[in-house]
Order: sequence, then C-alpha cells, then structure tokens
Amino acid sequence: MDKIIVQGGRRLQGEVAVSGSKNAALPILISSLLTSETCVYQGIPHLVDINTTLKLLGGLGVEVDKESWAKDSGDLTLRADRVKNVEASYDLVKTMRASFLVTGPLLARFGRAHVSTPGGCAIGTRPVNLHLKGLAAMGASIDQVHGYMEVRAKKLRGAKIYLDLPSVGATENLMMAASLAEGTTVIENAAKEPEIEDLAAVLNKMGAQVQGAGSDIIRIEGVTSLRGVKHRVIPDRIEAASFVIAGVLTGGNVLVTGARPAHLDAFSIKLKEAGVDLVGGENSFGVKGNGKIKSVDVTTLPYPGFPTDLQAQMMVLMSVADGVSVITETIFENRFMHAQELDRMGADIRLEGNRAVVRGVKELSGAPVMATDLRASVSLILAGLVANGTTEVSRVYHLDRGYERIEQKLSKLGAAIERIRG
Ligand code: EPZ
Repeated sequence: MDKIIVQGGRRLQGEVAVSGSKNAALPILISSLLTSETCVYQGIPHLVDINTTLKLLGGLGVEVDKESWAKDSGDLTLRADRVKNVEASYDLVKTMRASFLVTGPLLARFGRAHVSTPGGCAIGTRPVNLHLKGLAAMGASIDQVHGYMEVRAKKLRGAKIYLDLPSVGATENLMMAASLAEGTTVIENAAKEPEIEDLAAVLNKMGAQVQGAGSDIIRIEGVTSLRGVKHRVIPDRIEAASFVIAGVLTGGNVLVTGARPAHLDAFSIKLKEAGVDLVGGENSFGVKGNGKIKSVDVTTLPYPGFPTDLQAQMMVLMSVADGVSVITETIFENRFMHAQELDRMGADIRLEGNRAVVRGVKELSGAPVMATDLRASVSLILAGLVANGTTEVSRVYHLDRGYERIEQKLSKLGAAIERIRG
C-alpha cells in the first residue's frame, strides 16, 4: 500500500487548479443510464471512485469511451443503448456507496434494478431507507433478498415525497427516477448542495423538467424519454477548500483557480471569523497568509451549512489555532477518527459524543499516522504540512478516492511531499 511522506515547515505559495467535483461527477455519470443516446462529460476528475463508477456502468452494458479522458483529461463519452443487465454487485457497491445511485435510473428506464445494499462504512451506518421510501411512493415494489434490493415497477408514477433528512443521495436517486415517471413528483426537504443543482442542470439538458434544484422543494414533471447531453461538471468545492486550508496552515499565499467561492459561503465566513484574509473572484478562491488563526466553533450542517466533508480539515486548522474550538458533527455518527491520529501529532482534542473540543497548541510534531477515510486522510496530509518534522501517512488509498494528484498539486505550491509506492 502506498504511503505519503510530508516534511513540515514549508510556506505554500502560488496557484493551483481545482479539479472537477467528484460528488457532482458520480451521479452525473450514472444519469447516462436514463438515455440510449450519447452522453459527453467534461472536467471529470481522475479518481478511484470515478474508475469504480465506469467499471460499474460498463458491467451494466454501458459503452464507455474513456481514451481521451484517460490520456489528457479530455471528454468522457458514455452510451447506454445496449444495457444488458440491471444488477449492481456487492463487490462494487461495498467499495463505493454511490453505486446505489444506479437504482433510480435503472428502475425508471428498464422497470427493474437488482442492487446490493451498500452496508455501513467507516464514517457511519449510512442507510438508504429514504431512497427506498421515495421509490416505493412512486409505485416501486421492493424486496430485500440476500443483501440485495430487488426493485421493480412497470411504470413509476409521480408522487409527493418528504425526506426526513435532506439526504444528498436520496435526492439524486429520486430526481433521476422521477425524470422518467408518469406525472409530477415533488421532493420536499430536498438536499440543496451545488452538486444537486449540477445534476438537475444535466437532466434538464437531457430534456427532463426539473425545477427548484438548490432549494428544499424540487418539482419534476416526468417525460417519456431523455436525450444525450454534453456537460462540464462544476469544480470540486471540497478540494478547493482543502487547498485553502493548506495555505492558511502554512501562512502562505495560495490561490485555487477555477474554484467557485459562492459554493463555500459557510466555510468562508468561518475562516474570516478565524482572522484569515481571503482573496479571489468569482472563479478563484484563495488566502493571503497573515499567520493569524483564531479558534472558532464549527457545526456541520446540510448545505448551505458548514460541510461535513470539511470538518476534518477544519479540525487540523483549529488544532494549531489560538484558543479553544468546539466542533460538532451532526451529519455522520463516526466522523472523528482523524482526531486520535492528530493527537498522536501533539494536538489536544477531547471527544465528547458528536462534539470535539480542540485546544490550540503551539506546534504539531510529525509522526507515522494512518488514514481511515477520505477526508480524514487529507486532514493528516494538511497536519503534516505544518508539523515539525516528518509525517508518514499510510493507507492513502482512501485519499486517492477523492483527490486527484494531490502530491503533485501540493509540491507545485512548494510542499515537501512525496508518495512511496507500496
Ligand atoms: C453525500 O453522501 C456525499 N457523497 C458525502 O461525501 C457527503 O458527506 C454527504 O453527501 C453529506 O453531504 C457523494 O455525494 C458521493 P446523505 P450521501 O445521504 O448521499 C443519513 C465524501 O467525502 N441517511 O446526505 O451518502 C446518512 O446516514 C463523501 O466525498 C439516512 O438516514 O449522504 C447520513 O447520516 C463522504 N437514510 C445523512 O443522512 C438515507 O436513506 C446524510 O447522508 C440516506 C441518508
């Protein structure tokens, strides 16, 4: 297994280009199942989770032309005109929960889906009950057999659906299913993330009738079929914010080009409260290092609240801030695993249920640490950038799921970082 070695103490300087959003790309690639016409996607990042999704779609019979994408980040072309099976296997779904998003499109287009339930993951139980409740409301029959969901429907009917939680995945699954249903579907308490808006934009380009994406009520008028599409995914707001934190931590001047600060209001407000000088325009987001980091309290919430996917990165910042910060995780039940690794680097973090009390320390010290999940792994890299000495992060396969060439990007900013192939 690969390791990443970081020498702390370098001030990061310069510009880095953000990649396309993983969490927009995954549902958008899966939405190609909704049409037999050619779908062309641009700005798709080179990530393990993207390759897993392409393998999953290929296994269903979707034609995948990834040559120009793989060679030089060109277009990725998919065509689902010869889908031969509607089964998403346990091996794939267990490695990537987002695979469950094939359920809605397969059901809507082919009347059937046989998809493994995702099971738990490191950060929480992550059930799919809201996905299934919505599909049932649209007339699907659902049987759980041997760890698989057998979902059938001659023709989905529009329905009024209330989500008990503004689930991103459930909103995406149901939006895709409803786009080919008979009649009108209303999703209340829908998730409002920018990735939901990007998926809705793709569906509408395909001929769907989706209104209200980005608000908590989404209305979808079903249509009989959908066309092919060409679409460039939005930039990855979580990657962008992770690089901004790297700049703040090292007291450097870092500008993330291609990023959209408008997708990161809660994060920006928190950084300003912490005394950080932010820079940038509509399509760039950065920091002018002033060495100041004041402790601030953070509570993760559904969008537009502070993103849970930035909680671990913010914890690193607060671990070397001036004061005491209380970080409350309200989305997932087990998303503090990075805390004990940061403690090994000299952080002072006390966990109390879903709250972490972070007392800022003068300095972190480099140490061998272990990544446990995607965002925890990037937080350990960030800690290594500012720690005194050498940090060795193992199990970086977690990192490769969501960050494209992170060591090259950080090296370009002046970090002393290298990957040891294992
Ligand atoms: C998406 O996961 C993201 N993944 C996650 O990013 C992100 O952390 C999460 O949204 C929250 O913003 C992708 O977009 C691929 P949810 P998702 O359904 O859709 C509960 C990353 O690091 N819930 O909004 O799985 C669930 O247990 C990943 O890039 C139910 O109870 O998140 C969780 O506590 C990690 N029943 C909460 O809702 C359901 O049917 C939010 O989950 C569905 C969800």
